Amino acid sequence: MDLLRRKPIEVEQRGTALARTLSWPHLVALGVGAIVGTGILTLIGVGADRAGPSVILSFVIAGTICACAALAYAEMATMIPASGSAYTYSYVVLGEVIAWTIGWSLILEYSLVVSTVAVGWSGYASALLTPLGFPLALTNGPALGGLVNVPAVVIIAIVAGLLMLGTKESATLNAMLVVVKIVALAIFVAVALPSFQSSNMEPFMPFGFGKSMSADGVERGVMAAAAIIFFAFYGFDAISTAAEETKNPGRDLAIGIVGSMIACVLIYMLVAVAAVGALSFTRFADSPEPLALILREIGRPGFATFLAASAVIALPTVLLGFLFGQSRIFFVMARDGLIPAALAKVSRRGTPVRITLATAALVAIIAGVMPIDAIAALANAGTLAAFAAVCICMMVMRRRAPDAPRTFRTPLAPVVGTIGVLGCVYLFFSLPQRTQWYFLIWNLVGLAVYFLYGRRRAVHAE
Ligand code: ALA
Repeated sequence: MDLLRRKPIEVEQRGTALARTLSWPHLVALGVGAIVGTGILTLIGVGADRAGPSVILSFVIAGTICACAALAYAEMATMIPASGSAYTYSYVVLGEVIAWTIGWSLILEYSLVVSTVAVGWSGYASALLTPLGFPLALTNGPALGGLVNVPAVVIIAIVAGLLMLGTKESATLNAMLVVVKIVALAIFVAVALPSFQSSNMEPFMPFGFGKSMSADGVERGVMAAAAIIFFAFYGFDAISTAAEETKNPGRDLAIGIVGSMIACVLIYMLVAVAAVGALSFTRFADSPEPLALILREIGRPGFATFLAASAVIALPTVLLGFLFGQSRIFFVMARDGLIPAALAKVSRRGTPVRITLATAALVAIIAGVMPIDAIAALANAGTLAAFAAVCICMMVMRRRAPDAPRTFRTPLAPVVGTIGVLGCVYLFFSLPQRTQWYFLIWNLVGLAVYFLYGRRRAVHAE
């Protein structure tokens, strides 16, 4: 069956046209830079609205599932250091049509994360811009009564421009901004934690565990919150898309993926406990800037302003990580012939300029007109599909090629892999029903594109 045709692993382990300029500190920074963002800064409020104080449990659940996926990613990325990430692993392990479907899910993940975070950034930036006379209609898309979200479009254009200048330059700037972000979160924990009151934790689980419909038509529960909070944890996967630009992929990718994941799980747990303990969740649940609001409410307005300013300065690192990853995934899919090859051309600086431009234009349009919540859940759906696929790839390769060299081995592979797959499935079904339908439609469109275009044009280099 040519639909399940697999790419030889040797082909994917070969050289590349991209410039190898990155080492592991860049990768850890790229990972943390892509992970810490709108999820912890904004969606923590949405999570608290869905689960109450037990959003802490949602963090633990989403973090555990992501950690399992991260271990599987580290094993697959070091075994197959190709920039297509989950798409390429699926091509080698599971076959072409599944690879295409996963690639199509990755497009959803990467593009919608960029759009979501750009809109989140615009929320913070607009709060600074509107007092200076910037028209309100130009800070929101039509769904929220505006015309177009100009700051969101502008920030995507700036980050895309940086990426086109060269990978090394943007990775160094990224590392500096990551420090700003971590310092802001550390200060939040230090300032909010002393205000911890156990009464804010009660009742701990007001909406139950499994997803269920509330009277106001919103799906709530610990799992419903976990399915949203999941957004906060991913981004480490963007590191694997830098495989072909990494000097020593075997070692550096594993350190980058596992290191950035562990760092973020620790930071998030502290932030979640500090946030929920400092203020009753009902008071920050629907705020567009929950962490700053908490600091203001506990009487520390100066720190609140500092946190908000840090968000404006440092959130673009998430855009950088995902826009980078998106362009690399398109690049590899185009190289494989599944999308037009003309897009895969690499400039003299070693970066795929055309595809970066095409990606940026697409995500800027979405960010310009769509509301944030509608985009984030769908990004999660695409990511969950990719994470489950990587866990499956890892387990299949353990059986198919048990003795193949692996720089990084997932500990307790069958257990970790199974938790990863089942956890992703459970989170997917905990997403809003509407998101599940949109995801299905997206995949049907993807399969139509594959059968009309990619299937006949797929390149099968031996
Ligand atoms: N984890 C990233 C964020 O929270 C996508 O923004």
